[in-house]
Amino acid sequence: MDGKKLRYGVIGYGFIGRRHVNTLKCFPGVECSAVCDINPVRLEEVKVLYPEIPVYTSAREMLDCVPLDGVIIAANNNQHKELAVMAARAGVHILVEKPAALSVAELDEMTRAAADAGVTFTVHQQRRFDKDFACVRECYNQKLVGDIYTIKSALYGYNGNMHDWHVYKSEGGGMLYDWGVHLIDQILYMVDSRLVSVYADVRNVINKEVDDYFKILLRFENMVTAEIELGTYFLSDQKDWFERHWFVGGNTGSMYVDKFDPQGKIVRTTRLLENVAKDQDKSLASYGPTRSFGVPEPGLIVTEDLPSVNSEQSQFFVNYFKAVRGEEEFLVTIPQVRRVLAVMEACRKSAQTMESIVFE
Ligand SMILES: NC(=O)c1ccc[n+]([C@@H]2O[C@H](COP(=O)([O-])OP(=O)(O)OC[C@H]3O[C@@H](n4cnc5c(N)ncnc54)[C@H](O)[C@@H]3O)[C@@H](O)[C@H]2O)c1
Repeated sequence: MDGKKLRYGVIGYGFIGRRHVNTLKCFPGVECSAVCDINPVRLEEVKVLYPEIPVYTSAREMLDCVPLDGVIIAANNNQHKELAVMAARAGVHILVEKPAALSVAELDEMTRAAADAGVTFTVHQQRRFDKDFACVRECYNQKLVGDIYTIKSALYGYNGNMHDWHVYKSEGGGMLYDWGVHLIDQILYMVDSRLVSVYADVRNVINKEVDDYFKILLRFENMVTAEIELGTYFLSDQKDWFERHWFVGGNTGSMYVDKFDPQGKIVRTTRLLENVAKDQDKSLASYGPTRSFGVPEPGLIVTEDLPSVNSEQSQFFVNYFKAVRGEEEFLVTIPQVRRVLAVMEACRKSAQTMESIVFE
């Protein structure tokens, strides 16, 4: 590709479509050449904010009328496959929102359409650049707590709300599709090992059609067990109780990370494996409901700051546009996306059978 600006159209001007138009307007070397949404009311805002951008109420019409190099598909989940196949046939590069598709089979159809058309195809999994996750990944890569045996990734909402189409199964609603795809992607991106088994509990706690709670256990060949838990209905009277938590356990320490703008510590004991009291007095001095879980003596626990990481979601687009120009590889690859969708399918199967699923 020469030095010309990349012309992109955005399909779906909702919460995230808005952000994509803004990104295209701000990013060097690209431009937003058209926006489409089946809801004309949504397009009124585009007309006011960006009068120079033509708007359409159908993706077909947009693709027929405007010369484009690519599209960003930011419509409801159940629309992704059809829109991606349509875009591939129109010969434009495809960036689709997560979840890329509702199933592995859908994704395979989209992948074939992109390959047949010779266009690039990837997915907006920008939470690989979240600071909290980058911190945990640094801990994992640098073995900051030694050999890691457990990682817990949790996200809790406090008011039970799920919005708009996310409560309808036919639209691709539910939390596994919405957030599960990010949380699973982060773990698979980080843990470089064969995933041996998947166990999951996926529930509709207060929603009729779709899941609003899940707990997933992923057991890897390298002996890491990852637990992912999400609840939309963990009621609390605390203010702003929208909770993101990580816990990482290793054999030379632990790390906890709270919030997306991460706060936490690496925690160690000063006398690792010197915990067996040589005399009864020392043993008696340890207090608490049981001696093993008693309060540590002063000076036993030491903390270190979290590793500093330089990570921003916008890095996704830096890689994306370079990759479209052929200057580097896509960070988010379709085989990775496929593996995440396969894990989601295994989660649903496990939840149904109450058994763990042999994975790879
Ligand atoms: N990567 C992220 O962090 C992130 C964050 C939010 C949403 N998303 C994803 O983005 C997508 C949209 O989510 P949202 O929260 O912006 O939803 P939204 O409801 O706010 O917006 C979706 C828009 O798409 C339009 N639409 C539906 N079908 C269409 C079609 N066939 N053609 C054109 N327009 C169509 C709707 O009218 C609506 O305006 C979903 O796949 C969601 O999972 C990703």
